Amino acid sequence: MRTLSRVIGLLIVTAFIFATISTAQEGSKSSSGTKSAKEIFTTNKCNSCHEMKAEKISKTGKSKAPDLSMVGTDKNAEWVEKFLTKKETLDNKKHPISFKGTDSELKTLATWIASHGKKESK
Ligand code: HEC
Repeated sequence: MRTLSRVIGLLIVTAFIFATISTAQEGSKSSSGTKSAKEIFTTNKCNSCHEMKAEKISKTGKSKAPDLSMVGTDKNAEWVEKFLTKKETLDNKKHPISFKGTDSELKTLATWIASHGKKESK
């Protein structure tokens, strides 16, 4: 009887560990397996300096960096990509950090940011 309850106990612990691991993985990735722009934004800690009111993302730090909800009104995705890799400047200043993710993540992120504040043409 003691052995049986020990086996059952072990099974419960194992099941619990697996459940924790799989939910943790689901949390960092979207169902398609690639990260969404919003996930790229938060995993790269852009929200430590920037808020994005349009997406209800608030900043976690005390930086005076601007809200990114209206970037698309005067900038396009290409500009954002260059700015985030320090190939472009804003008021003669480079962005304080350079993007650390992959090229395709940069494209997804830049396209998403530049889509905010754009006047609907259609
Ligand atoms: C260390 C703080 C910090 C972090 C982290 C940071 N930024 Fe910035 N960002 C700034 C500051 C400060 C400015 C304003 C620069 C200026 O006005 O000269 C800025 C400006 C920008 C702009 C231009 C905004 C505008 O009004 O045109 C974009 C776009 C931008 N950041 C995107 C990002 C993205 C995407 C990330 C994450 C990969 C990120 N930032 C991470 C501090 C930060």
